[in-house]
Amino acid sequence: MEILFDEQTIQKRISEMASEISAYYKRQEWYKYTMEPVHILCVMFGGLPFTTDLMKRLSIRFKYHWMRVSSYCGTTTSIRDPKILVKPRKRFLDDNILIVDDILESGKTIRTIKEHIKWPGQDIRTAVLLRKPDKISSGVRADFIGFDIPDKFVVGYGLDYKNRYRKKPYVAVWGEDESGSSES
Ligand code: IMP
Ligand code: MG
Repeated sequence: MEILFDEQTIQKRISEMASEISAYYKRQEWYKYTMEPVHILCVMFGGLPFTTDLMKRLSIRFKYHWMRVSSYCGTTTSIRDPKILVKPRKRFLDDNILIVDDILESGKTIRTIKEHIKWPGQDIRTAVLLRKPDKISSGVRADFIGFDIPDKFVVGYGLDYKNRYRKKPYVAVWGEDESGSSES
């Protein structure tokens, strides 16, 4: 597989993102003048490695939650609308939320999550490790982005092909010739 970002490159970028994100919140009036935490919402399963590595480096008050959303049917194309499989237990009302996911492709996943948790008065931000700029439908954006990548199917660091490769510490381009491999 062609490695796009090795472990060291990913970890270095996450440290930079943690600084950017922390700085953003420290500038917000609500963060400065209330004791409210940022509510981090991890999109399972793909967003898990990124969320945990990011949280270790944030220098802000936060709590964390998760939800499970499915967009792919174990293949390499998103062929249906995302489904919320597990909702967060908390109702976010007027909390301020940072959605954290592995990758922004069409943006349908992020849009679905925002529609689900939307409540007036919230500051809802999004952080993704990867973005495929060529695939995004209009109107969806992320606030914090690790790397832009070409329109190729990638695996590793949370991203899977049929539930494989998620635990690799790097991000690589998946190729057809990998389909018979026994790597997990
Ligand atoms: P979107 O809804 O089209 O933005 O797709 C986002 C979701 O699709 C992500 O949370 C991933 O779970 C999955 N996804 C998108 N692109 C890839 C990829 O290249 N490899 C593995 N999963 C992907
Ligand atoms: Mg996902």
